[in-house]
Amino acid sequence: MNVHDSEKVAGTLLAKGYSQVETPEEADLVLYNTCSIRDKAEQKVFSRLQQFKRENGRGKVFGVLGCVAQQEGEKIFERAPHVSLVAGSASYTKLPEMLVQLEQGDRRVTGLSLETDETFDTPFTRRDNPYRAYITIIEGCDKSCAYCVVPFTRGPERSRTGESVMAEARRLAESGHTEIQLLGQNVNSYRDPTPAGWDFATLLARVGEIPGIRRVRYTTSHPRDFGKSIVDAMDANPVLCNHVHLPVQSGSDHVLASMDRLYTRADYMRRIEWLKNSPRDMAITTDIIVGFPGETESDFQQTLDLLDEVQYDSLFSFKYSPRPNTSALALGDQIPEEEKTRRLMILQEKQRAIQIRRNAELIGSVQEVLVEGRNQALGQWIGRTTQNRVVNFTAPDARGDSLLGKYLPVRVTRSGPNSLVGECLANVL
Ligand code: 5AD
Ligand code: SF4
Repeated sequence: MNVHDSEKVAGTLLAKGYSQVETPEEADLVLYNTCSIRDKAEQKVFSRLQQFKRENGRGKVFGVLGCVAQQEGEKIFERAPHVSLVAGSASYTKLPEMLVQLEQGDRRVTGLSLETDETFDTPFTRRDNPYRAYITIIEGCDKSCAYCVVPFTRGPERSRTGESVMAEARRLAESGHTEIQLLGQNVNSYRDPTPAGWDFATLLARVGEIPGIRRVRYTTSHPRDFGKSIVDAMDANPVLCNHVHLPVQSGSDHVLASMDRLYTRADYMRRIEWLKNSPRDMAITTDIIVGFPGETESDFQQTLDLLDEVQYDSLFSFKYSPRPNTSALALGDQIPEEEKTRRLMILQEKQRAIQIRRNAELIGSVQEVLVEGRNQALGQWIGRTTQNRVVNFTAPDARGDSLLGKYLPVRVTRSGPNSLVGECLANVL
């Protein structure tokens, strides 16, 4: 989501006549797009700001965008006095005006209002990837998970109209993008604000029907709002990729309740069953937090059991990090850092073994790969399968960059915990 926000900011400024330079050293204006989901990400912003200022900062204008900007507001000017612009994601359309204010002599400008209907559909987005493109369908979040800062930094949910999403997807197809990724903090609670009133499953199905679009993904889902109709839509159209990211956070009902996640393990497993019963081979990935306040050894054990039960294709795991404004802040940070680290290591080790086994099962199979890059040093091409697995493969006859953006059949010959290795079957000359 942050990557896509940066694309929107870059596009908005390019449309106003700004030009982009290759390195921050060459820039007159340096904008930091920031994340405050965990404390570590937030601290990184301040250390980078200081370091860059010391080494290369003379004469430049600095701005801080994104969730740290929204959360810390004018306090950023105190901690990093060389910053002159602070703006949250709901204010990006106002960036050009804010920059004009700075040029006219204002020393400091802010864009921090969250009172906006704006869903920031800009025609100016500058796309970084010529094949895969992001489309924001819903901004903000109306859940209140006890650990999560997002509702405070991105504000309440605002869905874009189905019509504007479709128009953007068609434009992208016309410009040669074949893979679309629909984005939102909770895409499942998407609801078209026009009388058409499309829900997420309907929008997903419609985007999947656009000529020229070969793959559609979406992230991120909330299990509570993940309805069967979404799986039905996926079953009906192979353009909708065989992958669902369904963050569980914990395998313990006690922890899920204190996180205010609004589902039980059994509710979650019902959704997993829908996916496992699909005629399509659905990859399932998740997010897990270890060391949430009150998480006992037995709670943690239940999370490990869940990994065995679900057999995730991949997961992101995090140590709990107390965040400003969140309700869990009142619970303190009860699990010592070393214990969080221990749990994280055990969890990641278990998942690694699962991934090694699951990926090895694919050896010998033929996967359709969208080619996205090239590793010159290894003489390999890099792409992804519909399940979002990374495949590094050889294609001895290929020339130059000729394979980029193509969909090719690749036979898997080897596997590791995080990727597959293979050889292209097509005659690609
Ligand atoms: N501490 C640790 N992890 C967090 N996440 C969100 N907030 C926190 C926090 N305070 C994780 C969740 C979420 C992912 C994007 O980041 O697992 O799904
Ligand atoms: Fe945060 Fe929960 Fe909203 Fe996800 S659903 S963004 S974890 S509050």
